[in-house]
Amino acid sequence: MSLSATTTGGMSGSDAAPRGGDPLLERMDQMIIEQEKIMLARTERSQAMRAEGESVLAGGVASSWQDAPPCAVWVDYGKGSRMWDVDGFEYSDFHGGFGVGLAGHAHPAIVAAVQDRVTKGTHFAQPTEDAIVVARELSQRYGLPLWRYNNSGTEATMDAFHLMRVATGRSKVLKVEGSYHGHRDAAQVSVYPELEEAGSVEAPNSVRYSTGIPDPMAQLTVIVPFGNIEAVERALATHKDEIAGMIVEPVMMNIGLIPPPPGYLAALKDLLHKHGAWLAFDEVKTGFGLSPGGATELFGVTPDLICTAKAMGGGLPCGAIGGVPELMGLIADRTYEQVGTFNGNPLTMAAARAMMQDVLTADAYKHLDALRERQVSGCEDVLERYSLPGFVRALGGKGAVIFTENLSNYRDFCSYDDQWGNAHWLYQHNNHVFLPPWGKCEQWTMSVQHTEEDVDRFVANLETFARELRKGVAA
Ligand SMILES: Cc1ncc(COP(=O)(O)O)c(C=O)c1O
Repeated sequence: MSLSATTTGGMSGSDAAPRGGDPLLERMDQMIIEQEKIMLARTERSQAMRAEGESVLAGGVASSWQDAPPCAVWVDYGKGSRMWDVDGFEYSDFHGGFGVGLAGHAHPAIVAAVQDRVTKGTHFAQPTEDAIVVARELSQRYGLPLWRYNNSGTEATMDAFHLMRVATGRSKVLKVEGSYHGHRDAAQVSVYPELEEAGSVEAPNSVRYSTGIPDPMAQLTVIVPFGNIEAVERALATHKDEIAGMIVEPVMMNIGLIPPPPGYLAALKDLLHKHGAWLAFDEVKTGFGLSPGGATELFGVTPDLICTAKAMGGGLPCGAIGGVPELMGLIADRTYEQVGTFNGNPLTMAAARAMMQDVLTADAYKHLDALRERQVSGCEDVLERYSLPGFVRALGGKGAVIFTENLSNYRDFCSYDDQWGNAHWLYQHNNHVFLPPWGKCEQWTMSVQHTEEDVDRFVANLETFARELRKGVAA
């Protein structure tokens, strides 16, 4: 099974790689087949909608990652920490819409803000007062003075690539192997490269992740392994005076969850500055979820640029980039035209304001901390009692059960079986917990409306999964 198949929806139980007589993996494959059958039996309406959708939606869904084997799940509605599919099944929502759902569904403060704004007009392509209020909030949380808006994480990181290039007159940007920064040309490089193409660990190749990207474009994105300062030093020497900057997820969150080694982020900033280059944090997933000021606050390193999106908009499409005056000044003086019809959209701004002022309060973070501790200790206890390989990693409202002994970069991620995440996801799903599909790449997102009951349901499902897996397979 290839990693690209994992992330493009190509895998099902029957696609598993040969097991070489590993009884646990063989048992897991069998469980996947059983669980896929169960899921298919309970998703009749979803499957009908998919079939209907195929006549007008390419591939039958609105975005390719909404489709995972054995079938795309169509959603009816959500409330609080729960969501309901079109077949009437209720779930504790730990998917969080790929990490957006920190507020939970229909949070009263977001509903009130959106209802108020919607009656006053939702779009003018001229700024409204909330644009200033939200920028001030962002500035206080992240310690960077100047901000602009866009409409997605992809757009936020695109602006970061552009700004670093404009400021330096250089074309190349450093990116970490295995990180995802959105679906535009310069970012779609070495996201989940096949190992045969990926090159050496220390100086990986620049591998196009998507079709439609010209190879010369991909070569402008220079790849380094996560957590390795020497590799960055080598890349800066090899591409002397060509590197505009580096974009990095301060905590990798598209190959499970990998925190930075101690001192890594500060060392990156020093090193890049020494070479006349800039540092951009992609806080699209880490922003707000790890702490009020995201990873920037948690690890105490302020980069030159921060890209954020997802949770910021309380469930509305959003994106923002903040930075130091040397970079954001290039927008102010029109050296770089940062534009967009929907930038600073009033509805998004109203929701973002409510999100920061009314939803993500100090008490909300305390609540998330308590739930995280309960979930982590519950999951750790299950892994230990059933002697399953793996561990639990969690920060703020995010976390993951990682079914391997060590995960500190993309090559570690490739070294363990994809079906672990798939099997766990299916088990949770069929037992009323919605996680992001496939499991291995993603992590859970808890909302401020989650409860101990949601956590206990998650842990109980992990236990059922472990028990089933161990049936007839000794530890
Ligand atoms: C770290 C990171 N950056 C950027 C993006 C792109 O964001 P969007 O899907 O809003 O374009 C994502 C999306 O998952 C992401 O996880």
